[in-house]
Amino acid sequence: MTLFSKKLLVPALLFLSGTIQAQNSNQPNEELIKTFDKALAGAAGQYKYLKSITPVDVMPKTFYATKKLETSKTSWWTSGFYPGSLFYLYQATKDTALYNEAISRLRILEKEQFNKGTHDLGFMMFCSFGNANAIQHDKKYDEILMNSAKSLSTRFNPTVGCIKSWDHGTWKFPVIIDNMMNLELLFWATKYSGDSSYYKIAVTHANTTIKNHYRSDFSSFHVIDYNPDNGSVHEKKTAQGYADASAWARGQAWGLYGYTVMYRATKDKKYLVQANKIAHFIIDHPRLPSDKVPYWDYDTPDIPATYRDASAGSIAASALLELSKYADAKNSSLYFKTAEKILTALSTPTYTAKPGENGGFILKHSVGHWPANSEVDVPLTYADYYYIEGMMRYKAMKNK
Ligand code: GLY
Repeated sequence: MTLFSKKLLVPALLFLSGTIQAQNSNQPNEELIKTFDKALAGAAGQYKYLKSITPVDVMPKTFYATKKLETSKTSWWTSGFYPGSLFYLYQATKDTALYNEAISRLRILEKEQFNKGTHDLGFMMFCSFGNANAIQHDKKYDEILMNSAKSLSTRFNPTVGCIKSWDHGTWKFPVIIDNMMNLELLFWATKYSGDSSYYKIAVTHANTTIKNHYRSDFSSFHVIDYNPDNGSVHEKKTAQGYADASAWARGQAWGLYGYTVMYRATKDKKYLVQANKIAHFIIDHPRLPSDKVPYWDYDTPDIPATYRDASAGSIAASALLELSKYADAKNSSLYFKTAEKILTALSTPTYTAKPGENGGFILKHSVGHWPANSEVDVPLTYADYYYIEGMMRYKAMKNK
């Protein structure tokens, strides 16, 4: 049996040539690959410096202009990004000092597999132990990831159809758009264990989020507070955005990345449609600057006299590169070019710190929590993580 019958041969060849055309037009640029190779080597140097100033029992979080490194306990939501970035940088540079540092950080992070008090286990455990497994598979990491998926699943409420995000505050059952990023761990758990319950939780959470988090322009609310007894929406609010009705930039990027992963994991077209719509909200936005690195909220009235959020840019760039593989030719090229633009901008001195500066972090100019006046215009571990990931995804697309 040949691959195509004669009757199907012509359409099949047309289909294949169309695919090849789209892929060719998305071929990485050689000069940019060289730029990213240099950036990744610089990043490795920065992270070695960061290692030298970070106490062994905590994780780096941010660095302030007052030359103060801020660290976090492993229970903080960002604790997986530092080891995760070290694993990526090891893959990029083969520098074993980075690998060894990552492994030693996994030892302090491991206990979080049993943490049932957070929805952030995907960020914390999949970006770290998942990346470790991709380099050298270890059954112990599988076990840790399975326990993490089990812990995360305890936060799912079938009446609401969502995983609860936070236990703090006066919320009833808060779900934040960021939570879309934790679902990849659940898909992994079903694949690994054969237990479909993790997959079902992820799909239900994503469907409920499409229904209640998204507005008609495909921007997203930050927080939906549900009534856990009947699943109704109690309030639509923000925590880190400018206003309840505004489009917080990082939230839009989390959603874009999250629905791209949903399509990868399920191949359900509705998630591709959702990711495309979110991508267009971002790319077509009149207040997206020409370098495509967004202001921290698309609706803050202070634009342009306010801060960019490099983290929102790097997350979107990495997501757009993946989405460009699934999209039709026109969108594919748009997403690829936009990602190129963002990563190019982030690789300039405007965003990339000089060696030994910025506390060893790679990127400057992210915003963590503007309303709380916390982490404003600073480096952040997740801005670095998705910037590294984006550059590596770009390089990996060569000749594909
Ligand atoms: N997940 C919290 C944030 O994006 O700041």
